[in-house]
Formats: sequence, structure tokens, C-alpha cells
Amino acid sequence: MSVLTKIIGLMGAKLGAQYEAVQGSQAWSSIFRPGSVFRKGYTDSPRNRSYVIMNSVLYHLHPVKVKRHAVKVSYTLCLGGLSFFLFILLTLTGIFLMFFYTPDATVAWDNTAGLMDEVSLGRMLRNVHRWGAHLMVISVFLHMARVFYHGAYKAPREFNWVIGVILLTLTLLLSFTGYLLPWDQVAIWAVTVGTNMMGFTPVIGDQFKSVLLGGPVIGSATLLRWYVLHVLFVPFVTVIFMAIHFWRVRKDGGISGPL
Ligand code: HEM
Repeated sequence: MSVLTKIIGLMGAKLGAQYEAVQGSQAWSSIFRPGSVFRKGYTDSPRNRSYVIMNSVLYHLHPVKVKRHAVKVSYTLCLGGLSFFLFILLTLTGIFLMFFYTPDATVAWDNTAGLMDEVSLGRMLRNVHRWGAHLMVISVFLHMARVFYHGAYKAPREFNWVIGVILLTLTLLLSFTGYLLPWDQVAIWAVTVGTNMMGFTPVIGDQFKSVLLGGPVIGSATLLRWYVLHVLFVPFVTVIFMAIHFWRVRKDGGISGPL
């Protein structure tokens, strides 16, 4: 055996011993839960294999069993998944847009115009955000149509249908509140028309309108309110309802059908 092989062998043994010591430490086992292959003493047993699934944040989201027809793209057309994907895409591009935008009536339009002409990739990311928003409204609507066509609103999925209706409303609210933010003529007049219509709501119309406008007419206070609704409040509520929606799909026995 050459000296070099001996040195490599010794270094390997030393590293192995150190790795085992780290694996046995309290800090290590607080990070990796039972069943992790990184934990000391992992053996390939049926119990450990199920631990791997149950204790992994990503694996445990998947059901243990799925119906054969449910994995066919032609059944769901992946429209629910597509709606979720678009929501993630909108969140990521929206965070990018927030770096260059101030919700103040004196600068909002200049920020938007600057984003288009002065910021690298600004025009593209703004358009991805805008088109993504239109697509999300379409895909959520088509997903609802698919669910209706398959009769998946029937027992035991009635509650999830109601959660779905709330999600559709939240999607439309996300779209509408974002519309004001560029602070151009189209945005200001669209929101003027929208809030005037809300003013005709029976009983609470006037209060509803003035809460949304932040004053008697559309102005800086309106912009700030709609900005907070668009970037924080509505997305936060949407995430909560999406979590309930996905959890219910699992608890209601997976995807409906077959027809
Ligand atoms: C942000 C909006 C939404 C997202 C992200 C979403 C996501 C999903 C996903 C991923 C699934 C499982 C796979 C699939 O069916 O494509 C699903 C199923 C379902 N969704 Fe939605 N959904 C949304 C809106 C809606 C709406 C508007 C309705 C109805 C009003 C609805 C009702 C249902 C029902 C009843 C199921 C179970 C379908 C079945 O078992 O065949 N969802 N949703």
C-alpha cells in the first residue's frame, strides 16, 4: 500500500468519526427528525421508511395513495395546480415590483414609468405580473367550471366548494386592488367607477365607499389603502384559505371521480 493511500485512508476514517460525532449531537438530532437518513443509526426498515415520508415537509404533503384516474392530466387539466403556480409567480414578481414602487400619489406613476424604462428587466417583470394576474383569474374560473362539470361540488366536497367560492372572490379582489397602483388615468377612473358602484350597496353603501376611498374622493389615502390590501391583507387571507382548500382535498378522499 502506498503512503498516499494510507494518508487518504486515515483522513477518511478521521472524517467519518467526526461525522458520526456530529450526527450523535443534540443539535443535529434536533434538526433531523426520526427516519432521516442523516440521523445516527438509520437502518432500512419499513418503520424508518414510513418515518421518511411522515417527517419530511415535502413528502408528507403527498397522499400515501392516489386514485389512478386522478393523476391523469386530462381529468383535472391541472387547473387548480396552475392557479396555485400563478399565485406563486405573482408573489415573486410582486416582491420585485415592490422594490421600485412607493404608494404615494405624487410619485406612483413616475415609479411605474421608471420601472418600464430605467430598471433592468423591469418592463418584462411588470408584464409577467400583469399577464399572470389575468391568467390567474381565467384559470381559477376554468378550474371552477371543471369542478362543476365533474359534479365535484357534491358531498363530501360541498364545504371545499364554498372555500373555492371565497378563493374566487379573493382572486378577483387581488386583481382589482392591483389595478389602481400604477396611478394612471385608466386606474383612477376604473376605481372611481368601482367605488361608486360599491356606494350603492344597501344599508352600508356610504360607509363602505368612504372606508375604501379613505376620504370623500379618490386620492393618496385611497392609494395607500389599496396598496396595503393588495400586497399584504388579501394575499395573507388567500394563503390561509388555500391551505384549508388543499387540506380539504386530501381529507375529502383526494380528487373526485371517476365519472
Ligand atoms: C385560488 C384559487 C384556487 C386554487 C389555487 C385551487 C386549487 C385547487 C387544487 C390544486 C385542487 C386539486 C387539483 C385540481 O382539482 O385541479 C383543487 C380542487 C378543488 N377545488 Fe380548487 N382552487 C381554487 C379555486 C377554486 C374555486 C373557485 C372552486 C369552486 C368554487 C374550487 C373548488 C374545488 C373543489 C370542489 C375541489 C375538489 C375537486 C375534485 O375532487 O375533483 N376551487 N383546487
